Amino acid sequence: MIAIITGATGDIGEEFVKSLIGEVDHIWAVGRSENKLNALREKYGDKIAPIICDLSDKDSIIGLCHKIEDEHPDIRYLVNNAGVARMAPVTEFPIEELCDMLEINDTAATLLCRASLPYMAEGSNILNIASASAFQPNPYIAVYSASKAYLLSFTRSLNVENKGINCIAVCPGWVDTKMLPSKTKSGKVIKYPGMVSADVVVRTALKDLRKGKDVSVCSPYYRYTRFLSKVVPHKTMMKLWIREIEDYIE
Ligand SMILES: NC(=O)c1ccc[n+]([C@@H]2O[C@H](COP(=O)([O-])OP(=O)(O)OC[C@H]3O[C@@H](n4cnc5c(N)ncnc54)[C@H](OP(=O)(O)O)[C@@H]3O)[C@@H](O)[C@H]2O)c1
Repeated sequence: MIAIITGATGDIGEEFVKSLIGEVDHIWAVGRSENKLNALREKYGDKIAPIICDLSDKDSIIGLCHKIEDEHPDIRYLVNNAGVARMAPVTEFPIEELCDMLEINDTAATLLCRASLPYMAEGSNILNIASASAFQPNPYIAVYSASKAYLLSFTRSLNVENKGINCIAVCPGWVDTKMLPSKTKSGKVIKYPGMVSADVVVRTALKDLRKGKDVSVCSPYYRYTRFLSKVVPHKTMMKLWIREIEDYIE
């Protein structure tokens, strides 16, 4: 029995490794850095099977899907956690960077779900790490936010299509990981509102999964934001968002 965790070398990814390692025989730890994957294996032992795969490259993603088909492992957990983000207007992103973001955040997660589902017995689990930014449009992270809205929608549909497999979209707000640049303004560190630690995200996600939820939001602040995004016009929500992030925009 195995777990597949993409972005296992990242902060939220490693929390999933810690939480799931006791439940499976092996973890296919997917990442692009051989050194980081080897360090993970040294830290957590032989149960870690490092898989080097650059998820911004479609051929590499397809190669990983074929590995699943060839080895037909008993997959207990698939955690599509790898993701990239950057705050800037769309016009400031090089075309290649946007391609990479869409491949990592959406294509890889989609194809890995497709490749894994035939090898998941009843009671198995898919956790797709989306974001609270999926709940509304968010200027200055427009593509990231849209990519996470895709993942949220896709995951909820999968959960209905695949009876017996628990599929959940994990939608945290700000999380204290290396993805967030630590920024200062006038000598003061800028605070991210409602920020939580990676272990809170993972603990809440696994608890929500066991309760049968298809969406996990790990803090009251973002549960409230999600509620607002259902009842307040999105034009207003976008204005509030821009006020929240004006300190981070250069
Ligand atoms: N931090 C937040 O505020 C926040 C909020 C909501 C949702 N999320 C989501 O949470 C997930 C995990 O992010 P994190 O906050 O834990 O950030 P992180 O520590 O930067 O982890 C990101 C992971 O993705 C991997 N990755 C990036 N590009 C890759 C590629 N081309 N191929 C393979 N792996 C790649 C990274 O590998 P390397 O170690 O090699 O860089 C790393 O393991 C992401 O999907 C993110 O969108 C984060």
